Amino acid sequence: MNLDALFILHRDIPREGPGSDEATSDAIRRLPPLPPRPRILDLGCGPGKQTLVLARQYQTPIIAVDFHAPYLAHLRRSAEGEGLSELVSTRLGRMEELKEQPDSVDLIWIEGAIYIVGFEAGLRLWRPLLRDGGLLVASEATWLTDDPPEEAEAFWHAEYPAITTVEGNIRAATDCGYEVLDHFTLPPSAWWNEYYTPLRKRVARLREEADTNSALAEVLDDTEREIAIYDRYGDSYGYVFYLMRKSTQNPTENGTSSSGRS
Ligand SMILES: C[S@@+](CC[C@H](N)C(=O)[O-])C[C@H]1O[C@@H](n2cnc3c(N)ncnc32)[C@H](O)[C@@H]1O
Repeated sequence: MNLDALFILHRDIPREGPGSDEATSDAIRRLPPLPPRPRILDLGCGPGKQTLVLARQYQTPIIAVDFHAPYLAHLRRSAEGEGLSELVSTRLGRMEELKEQPDSVDLIWIEGAIYIVGFEAGLRLWRPLLRDGGLLVASEATWLTDDPPEEAEAFWHAEYPAITTVEGNIRAATDCGYEVLDHFTLPPSAWWNEYYTPLRKRVARLREEADTNSALAEVLDDTEREIAIYDRYGDSYGYVFYLMRKSTQNPTENGTSSSGRS
């Protein structure tokens, strides 16, 4: 997919994936308390709606990481508008290349973005950065049925073949050395209100420009198709929040857990 065309479509959309302030707040409420002066990373923060909720609720500094500078600029403007500039710092960089010290992070937050490295790969990659008992919260596209409709299955097979069920992700988290404290599914309103509805309007507005920009036309078509699939089959898949804590069990290669600390 052409990234320039994708960014034209997504510029200034409130969110870059399904989510809502309520869901972010709900996830925070379900977590155990953090230690004093926690170190918190928000990976793939995009325009940062969830970063602002984290800053507001925890009243502590949040480091928001993304590789697309305009999203970070958007977040800085929003933080300033809400009087949260002191608490939000942005870092331009790749989530695969974090330079944090081992055992230094109390909370890694990643809404709608862990698919970029893969659920299991991300959990394995970032576990060493977490302190003992450190938390990782991720929302991830998940099958909500064991028997998805054929068209939805074909779509996801092409887009993200690693998509699995809640049970599959909980098993993966356990194998990767985490305890799943809780999980919950985002309601359909979290897909529509701040994501698919504004995107759909933007697609309609960009159609004329796409007449002379084939990369953009392709992105618009793909996005319309993605939204149509959700419209039809949205009860068979959803975004699920997984609230995880680094466990004392080491990650395993083969699904059999071993005890001891990493
Ligand atoms: C689906 S969006 C989710 C954004 C935000 N968390 C939200 O829910 O609105 C994924 C974000 O990850 C960023 N991204 C993609 N690949 C990345 C990478 N390798 N490292 C850091 N950020 C990345 C994109 O720029 C985008 O902002």
